[in-house]
Amino acid sequence: MTIFPVKEFENIPTPFYYYDLNILRETLNEVAKHSSRDNYHVHYAIKANANPQILSIIRDAHLGVDCVSGGEVQAALNAGFSPDKIVFAGVGKSDWEIKLALENNISCFNVESEAELEVIQEIAQSMDKSATVALRVNPNVDAHTHHYITTGLAENKFGINLEMLDHIIERCIILPNINLQGLHFHIGSQITETEPFKKLCLKINELQSHYENIGIKFNSINVGGGLGIDYDNPDENPIPNFKDYFETFHNNLELRPWQQLHFELGRSIVGQCGSLITRVLYVKEGVKKKFAIVDAGFTELIRPALYQAHHNIENLSSKTTDTEHYDVVGPICESSDRFGESEILPITSRGDLLALRSAGAYGEIMASQYNCRNLPKSLFSE
Ligand code: LLP
Repeated sequence: MTIFPVKEFENIPTPFYYYDLNILRETLNEVAKHSSRDNYHVHYAIKANANPQILSIIRDAHLGVDCVSGGEVQAALNAGFSPDKIVFAGVGKSDWEIKLALENNISCFNVESEAELEVIQEIAQSMDKSATVALRVNPNVDAHTHHYITTGLAENKFGINLEMLDHIIERCIILPNINLQGLHFHIGSQITETEPFKKLCLKINELQSHYENIGIKFNSINVGGGLGIDYDNPDENPIPNFKDYFETFHNNLELRPWQQLHFELGRSIVGQCGSLITRVLYVKEGVKKKFAIVDAGFTELIRPALYQAHHNIENLSSKTTDTEHYDVVGPICESSDRFGESEILPITSRGDLLALRSAGAYGEIMASQYNCRNLPKSLFSE
């Protein structure tokens, strides 16, 4: 459970991110405990949070990294991750990004189209390098999550359709600077049931049998990320159920003895360790509503505006147990700049500090400078 050092917060300009590093370390311990098989490799999806302090703790826990841009590859290298633990995905890799990855000998490109494969071949050839690739396949498994973060359905900008896979595998075999290592999947994000992951395993089993029958074997399988967190109860459930998650793959995926299994977890690793701390600027009395107008907006935390997400809101300053309903809104000139509607909070006044919980993933990293605002700073426990 996160205990907020409210006294210390009083002197710090808001809004800012507060990271409870104990939660992060405990989470990483759980990941290690349940993924400790020789052929399991957990990569941290750096898109969730690339704060250097967070990265150094994740690096020390021996995770690899999953990147989706040259900037992320560079951030991972700067943080001291070993290139042989970096995988590089993304539907639109620029030439300079492919070169950067090849120069640094990253372990694998997760390739999302034939067009991209041909460009990687061309660039690798010009550099006299071999590019190790995994093909990202759309397994057509519904992740039952928000449609903006569902990615495994058939026709999609992500990945390769199953019916086109045979042809692209053939191309991989022909292309001289391409070394096909395996298959990659990612069905979506904030998945809180094990069933979609089980379905993914069964689909992979089918595919593996099909390819083995025609003499094609893969050295690695990458099942992507997607394990969700409990946004409603961050203190009761600060750590996701990694046991069930890894067991689902262990029990359902027919991994061959020579195969390596890769995971790309983002939200489940950093989500619960971060909170956005904001100050109440005004309590505006409306006709029927009260608005708590705070100094953070979707510039600091865009998830509510973009995905109708809800982050628990706590008043850290209020001493009373009497409550009131508030719409908690930010200062940005857009109606979508709202963190909560009819939130029940202790009586709230100007100057109170609020914590928006479970904001460690896709929070700080998605901040923008819209309305010429400054990017948020971060503060760490200890
Ligand atoms: N691997 C691939 C190929 C991905 O596209 C993603 C996330 C991950 C791994 C990590 O997924 P995670 O374990 O974090 O669910 N901004 C959205 C989430 C976008 C996820 C994009 N891809 C949000 O705030 O909900």
